[in-house]
Amino acid sequence: MAFRFRGAAARALGAARGPGATGRRCVPCSQVAFGPSCLQRWPRNVRNMGGMLKTLDPRVFIVVEVKRDEPGVLGTVLKIFSDSGLNITHIESRFKTFARDGPAFHIDIQGSAEDASVQQVLKEVKGLPGVHEIGVMPDREVPWFPMNIRDLDLTTDTLDGGAALINQDHPGFSDLEYRKRREDIVAAAKRFRHGDRLPRVQYLESEVQTWKAVYVRLQGCHRQWACTEYLEMLKQMELYCGFAPDNIPQLEDISDFLQQRTGFMLRPISGLLSARDFLNALAFRVFYSTQYIRHHENPFYTPEPDICHELLGHVPLFANPAFADFSQEIGLASLAASDDDVARLASLYWFTVEFGLLKEGDKVKAFGAGLLSSFGEMEWSSSHTPSQECRDSGSMSHQERPVLKPLDPAVAAKEPYPITTYQPVFFVAESLTDAKRKISTFCDTLTRPFFPQYDPLTQNIVVTKAIRRADRVSTVQMQQEKQKEFFEKQQEQ
Ligand SMILES: [Fe+2]
Repeated sequence: MAFRFRGAAARALGAARGPGATGRRCVPCSQVAFGPSCLQRWPRNVRNMGGMLKTLDPRVFIVVEVKRDEPGVLGTVLKIFSDSGLNITHIESRFKTFARDGPAFHIDIQGSAEDASVQQVLKEVKGLPGVHEIGVMPDREVPWFPMNIRDLDLTTDTLDGGAALINQDHPGFSDLEYRKRREDIVAAAKRFRHGDRLPRVQYLESEVQTWKAVYVRLQGCHRQWACTEYLEMLKQMELYCGFAPDNIPQLEDISDFLQQRTGFMLRPISGLLSARDFLNALAFRVFYSTQYIRHHENPFYTPEPDICHELLGHVPLFANPAFADFSQEIGLASLAASDDDVARLASLYWFTVEFGLLKEGDKVKAFGAGLLSSFGEMEWSSSHTPSQECRDSGSMSHQERPVLKPLDPAVAAKEPYPITTYQPVFFVAESLTDAKRKISTFCDTLTRPFFPQYDPLTQNIVVTKAIRRADRVSTVQMQQEKQKEFFEKQQEQ
């Protein structure tokens, strides 16, 4: 059986594949019911909160150059900050020039340069005998990133620029009714803004039958190869979120449940996002989910993520605290990260959130959504003896079993992987807590422009340094620019 994704970006989105994998899209619009907007929603012209946040929680970047590198000099400087009640949020030392032997201390504090207390500190530190110079530096410019959860409204440009994702080899390509249905569901996702109620879809009988076929077939596999945490949470979802073979659950109900368990919430999406935008949302404990379902002609095949993949693969484990934490950790590390680091984090996401395994006694069990939503790849990854049929269906006839490596995020972040076949390599964590610890340690090793924290009360990202966000370049714009560059280079040749 053939299957494939729509390009590399699908990897970071956790595209589903293989027999029994989950994909996307559905049918007629008159039968789609969407909830009313939340009355407390902010006006739609309230968008970019960056400037406002800067005013609410300002930082000052100060550089102190000392004459000699000797014990106690930093302590003397810091005592003045401390005595003035100024809160230092970041500090590092650097050797600035060869002319003096003293280092320069880069210090970020909470406050504004105009504050009387800051001015007083500048004066006092400058008067210290060991200090050569002190000054307030301009904020460092960093790539744009969402600072408030509302900024996610600006990061929903899909990689296809909003065009329909169905292409010629999609099972629903020639089914006009199916395409119309899918367009209607996608349109609701496009209209969605933070604060709106999540769209409720009234699924058609044919769609429920597709869901049922997938649900029932996966049940047996889950009992055998899904990790215990997943099975426990799936039971909870059956109790509280409407998970059942005869019912496709609503994102709104699941999101409410997840918020009460781990603070995670769901947000509808219309298509494939860039890896950066997708990972950034995880920093806010937001997971983008499709709502359409694969074509009914073949319930066990999908070329892209759909509601089966999202709900039966991803959602249950977002109710697990350790899993939720390391998913957010990856998201926080992606904020304003370099393109190379975003690629590393996307790869780590792939080998954990999508295709992660963990140890249970002498067995390995699946916790990745790409496995949990694909009976074929679940068997391939977790069985001691994957059947010939299973191997053939994943283009793995040449390999008896996958290679299992202990989870090492630094290795996983660089491990190449195919997107059109089953994975030849998997990483196995000792447990979800072990995965959390290792991912956290790995994220600390990345070169980061600042260290962010998420404040769940205000839904803001709090940073350690005085920074200024560069203008946002949308994914679509970026693509257009890259395309232009490509054609210009071709013309030059
Ligand atoms: Fe996924």
